Amino acid sequence: MTMGRSWLLAATIAAAPALVVAQPAHAQASPAAVPTASAADARQRAEALVAQMTLDEKIALLHGLFPPMAEGKTAAELIPSAGHIDSVPRLGIPIVRESDASLGVANQVEQRKGDVATALPSALATAATFSPELARAGGMMIGAEARAKRFNVLLAGGVNLTRDPWNGRNFEYFGEDPLLSGMLAGEHIAGVQSNNIVSTVKHFALNAQETGRMVADAQIDEAAFRMSDLLAFQIAIERGQPGSVMCAYNKVNGDWSCENDFLLNQVLKRDWGYRGWVMSDWGGVHSTAKAANAGLDQQSGQELDRAEYFGAPLKAAVEREEVPVARIDDMVARYLTGLIGSGAFDTSVPASAQVPDYARNAGVAQQAAEAGIVLLKNEGGVLPLARTAKRILLIGGAADRGVLSGGGSSQVRSVGGAPVEIPLAYGPAASFVRITYHASSPLAALREALPGVQIDYVDGRNLNETLAAARAADLAIIFATQWTTEAQDAPDLRLPDHQDALIAMVAEAQPNMVAVMETGGPVLMPWVDRVPAIVQAWYPGQRGGEAIANVLTGRVNPSGRLPITFPATASQPPRPTPVGLDTLSSLEAQAAANPANVSDYQLSSFPVTYGEGADVGYRWYEKSGQRPLFPFGHGLSYTSFAYSDATVMGGDGLSVTVDVSNTGTRPGADVPQLYVTREGSDAPMRLAAFQRIELSPGETKRVTLTAEPRIIADYDVQQPGWHIRPGRYRVAIARNAEDRAMEMVTQLDEARMKP
Ligand code: BGC
Repeated sequence: MTMGRSWLLAATIAAAPALVVAQPAHAQASPAAVPTASAADARQRAEALVAQMTLDEKIALLHGLFPPMAEGKTAAELIPSAGHIDSVPRLGIPIVRESDASLGVANQVEQRKGDVATALPSALATAATFSPELARAGGMMIGAEARAKRFNVLLAGGVNLTRDPWNGRNFEYFGEDPLLSGMLAGEHIAGVQSNNIVSTVKHFALNAQETGRMVADAQIDEAAFRMSDLLAFQIAIERGQPGSVMCAYNKVNGDWSCENDFLLNQVLKRDWGYRGWVMSDWGGVHSTAKAANAGLDQQSGQELDRAEYFGAPLKAAVEREEVPVARIDDMVARYLTGLIGSGAFDTSVPASAQVPDYARNAGVAQQAAEAGIVLLKNEGGVLPLARTAKRILLIGGAADRGVLSGGGSSQVRSVGGAPVEIPLAYGPAASFVRITYHASSPLAALREALPGVQIDYVDGRNLNETLAAARAADLAIIFATQWTTEAQDAPDLRLPDHQDALIAMVAEAQPNMVAVMETGGPVLMPWVDRVPAIVQAWYPGQRGGEAIANVLTGRVNPSGRLPITFPATASQPPRPTPVGLDTLSSLEAQAAANPANVSDYQLSSFPVTYGEGADVGYRWYEKSGQRPLFPFGHGLSYTSFAYSDATVMGGDGLSVTVDVSNTGTRPGADVPQLYVTREGSDAPMRLAAFQRIELSPGETKRVTLTAEPRIIADYDVQQPGWHIRPGRYRVAIARNAEDRAMEMVTQLDEARMKP
């Protein structure tokens, strides 16, 4: 269904020779210290520039190229990547070079031959750290590498909430909770922008599934929308101050996101006072005057749209007075405000690519992976691996070579290369995606961590050999993989390729076993009762093998917490399988039968109704009275924690102060979570605050968790704005969304807040 994007591969092959020339090893390119301007100052400077520009110069800044397909440019001008916007030298307006960067500086299908970058773990793994600091550190690292590679606008900051566990892009987002997602995405963005570089926040909004992502029409009630997906964006924008917002492919309540007056003009620009620019997703523009007047400021990668909507047609629309000149001025001023405010405008780009400090940056990736790995289950103390184990068998998941990564525009070609790379034969992702592993072998890392232990590997394909080897070992560690990608959803939540059966059989042969899960998000675990230890490693990034080994051996005490609910059965989540798969197949069949009608096919739409409203994720489980396999917020440790002496403050704000103690024998990190709901309401409890804290054995720290007021409030469309009703509120200090270690009640005053 991703018509435009499907050109990437072909175009890439024909693209200009690689431009990135390795320079002598060289310190991290640190941007010159340009003080970032306040939004008001940046806007003033931007307006002064706009006042000096001709209409043609203005229009030229409002549509960008997709370098692999762009015509009329020399190889020296374009860096093969996602986007390019020309400079205006006479006014000092810089060239903009855009790269995807959710998990590192992307290089899909190696369009820049030999250009590697540091790959963080998936954003979902970063979310599992519950650490704003680590999210920021990851962003800072990516921004520094991007700058060294001459990019100045990064397409990072994916903050779409996970509404469906099968969404193919869950790994690129920060989970199902608006507060956690918004905070971590915001910190990631701030980290990127600390390099005087622009980051986007994306995809605005409700791009919650990949099936039919370019035609699906997300339907949701306004109050529920404001309290869930929009709140995640709002918090991310407040914390991260991104220079740009990328609107999504899908429709929202009947209008394309990139020409949606409600989303762009009313919510983003009016209610939230956003000053930067709205860029389209690649291939997400459908009109000229309507889009411009609805708040879209720039068409991205125009070769992927059906027309250069914001090129000559925009000029014509101005001349016909369908788009006011004042609007054009605002579009340009917003673009320049984003560039000036972030410091990108005033920071010179190196003349040639420089080599970042990859060794240092690998440490950033490893730290995030280690903090984001979640110990889901550990019965009988199987982990950390006993020093008495003399023979360990590793099974499957290409654990002898590396760790899996997610597919799509976020794909990083990581330092060390891709030891496994499998092209796709068919499907909407086939043209720009390959199944890719990072070169970080858990086998090698475990061998290094456990000298003297015999550690063998089998790939699991020969069942008899695998079971015999498992029996002969003291312990078996099976690496289960679920590859997911942009442009398509996981068809269901089962592990593919009969891995469930293999895990069950290995557990029978060798009960002393561990399952390490390298998955995009939640999968079903029909064998959960038979496997004593389960480690959720997500897509752990380019140092994933080392991170997994460190957690298994206890060098690192696991501290990740689930940012997403793991369902017990496929029928528990609101939608068991991707919506529209059937509709799409019939549309595809029609298009194949009659290629002349391909445009009808592209514009065909189908609704995806989010009836659960704001009760996303764990809230849905509470509301529908279901017990998931593992709840949101869950995660075990090799030590133990206790909460005591809690006091709750109510009135005109809500906070809880509590002692958190490490009652075990190892240092570790805990994440006390504050959940709240109004007594007597039927609203499920919502995560209102959390804090990750490191504690030595026996140590106690007193922690204050202050609730985000909009989490306590409801959105009132009549007011309009947030409304905290007066009354008694139930407050829980919890280990996860289900295990509420302490519950209290407090009284809150009435409060109203702006939208
Ligand atoms: C994706 C965006 C990405 C853009 C540019 C689109 O297909 O949805 O996330 O930034 O391509 O590569």
